Amino acid sequence: MHRGVVGRKVATVAGYRYSKALAAKNFIWDEALLDAWLTAPAKLAPGTAMGFRVADATDRKDIIAYLAANSPAKPSASR
Ligand code: HEM
Repeated sequence: MHRGVVGRKVATVAGYRYSKALAAKNFIWDEALLDAWLTAPAKLAPGTAMGFRVADATDRKDIIAYLAANSPAKPSASR
């Protein structure tokens, strides 16, 4: 489900029931936003249903690099 998340608009995986908190957001995931999200999801989107956090900065960097490697290179209007 996370494949392609870098460059994807937040809360737009078809069929997934997002919280109102995340569904109300309007941004495109990039590395910086993912870092903020994994550090503290509820800071980025108060009321989010994701309570899982990654405290270690190196772990976050590795995870985000993995997500980016499994995402199209650039956000594109045609997707
Ligand atoms: C390294 C592991 C994880 C990463 C990288 C990650 C990343 C993300 C991202 C990017 C989103 C937003 C998706 C979107 O906009 O389409 C999301 C949503 C969510 N994640 Fe995670 N997540 C991780 C682990 C977890 C775990 C372990 C749980 C549950 C125990 C979890 C529960 C959720 C939930 C419930 C949402 C939806 C939040 C909402 O609707 O407010 N995540 N996650």
